[in-house]
Amino acid sequence: MPMPPHAEAGAPLSVIALPGAEAIADRLAGALDASRTGLQSRRFPDGEAYLRVLDAVDGRELLVATALRDPDPQLPSLFFLADTLRELGASRVGLVAPYLPYMRQDARFHNGEAVTSRSVAAWVDARFDGLVTVDPHLHRIKTLGELYRVPGIVASSAGAIAAWVREHVPRPHIFGPDAESEQWAAEVAQGAGCAYSMLKKTRLGDREVQITLPPLEAARGCTPVLVDDIISSAQTMAVAVGALRAAGFADSVCIGVHAVFGDAAEQRLAQAGAGRVVSCNTLPHASNAIDVTPALADAVMALRRAWADGSARGIDPRSAS
Ligand code: R5P
Repeated sequence: MPMPPHAEAGAPLSVIALPGAEAIADRLAGALDASRTGLQSRRFPDGEAYLRVLDAVDGRELLVATALRDPDPQLPSLFFLADTLRELGASRVGLVAPYLPYMRQDARFHNGEAVTSRSVAAWVDARFDGLVTVDPHLHRIKTLGELYRVPGIVASSAGAIAAWVREHVPRPHIFGPDAESEQWAAEVAQGAGCAYSMLKKTRLGDREVQITLPPLEAARGCTPVLVDDIISSAQTMAVAVGALRAAGFADSVCIGVHAVFGDAAEQRLAQAGAGRVVSCNTLPHASNAIDVTPALADAVMALRRAWADGSARGIDPRSAS
């Protein structure tokens, strides 16, 4: 009989969830045959966090599951919890951040700007033994190893998205809304057995983008499927939907890996005339339709192998499978 995953890797494994990450923590614990550690959390009247770990963690490997949609208020609790788990005797503490925030400001574009992706990585490095995430926004920085000293394992959502497209979209044609999205568009198209095209995006401000279309003959008669890593303000998706409609396509299916959905994003997409809007369950949202738990569980297994064999850093993206 095969050994349960936690037994292969040594110390017993538990998953603890910060608020909002309970569902993915339950799924992950199920996939990994790990126990769930309880957490009591609330806010004092002045907004400060109160946390209490409800089960023994001594000698266990702990995975802290998060849903970091709103990272500024959430990050302190994450670090308090990691410190507490160590103080209570956890042998390793791993971060499971299916959505890894603060990845876009990865350079000092203008004098004096904070390079926040570096600061967040330093905070995580100081408290965690490693992290797993799904399709982080790697742009100028190409691997998590360039940012993090602890092992960082990237799970890919492309297989799960491609399977969803195969099952739900007749005659799909994948569109990536900007150059960075080609990594997802190409892989999803390959998995879904269809063609893809790249749009060209120019960002004029936080809430203003322009999209230009490539030649579209190959996509005529197909259902347009837009695939991007993050839907945040949904400006990118909405403008892309509008451009495709103006070119004679209707009802684009919009797929985002991470449903950040701030700033009236839903209304913006509806007004633009989007068809079905779906996302992966890296952040809980009504659009969640694609389960990335299997890829995330594989990434955790890879992290535990890295812990077991002592490899400290430099693990390539998509090395989880
Ligand atoms: C940017 O490079 C990302 O890949 C997304 O296209 C972007 O984060 C989407 O943001 P928004 O929904 O605010 O347009």
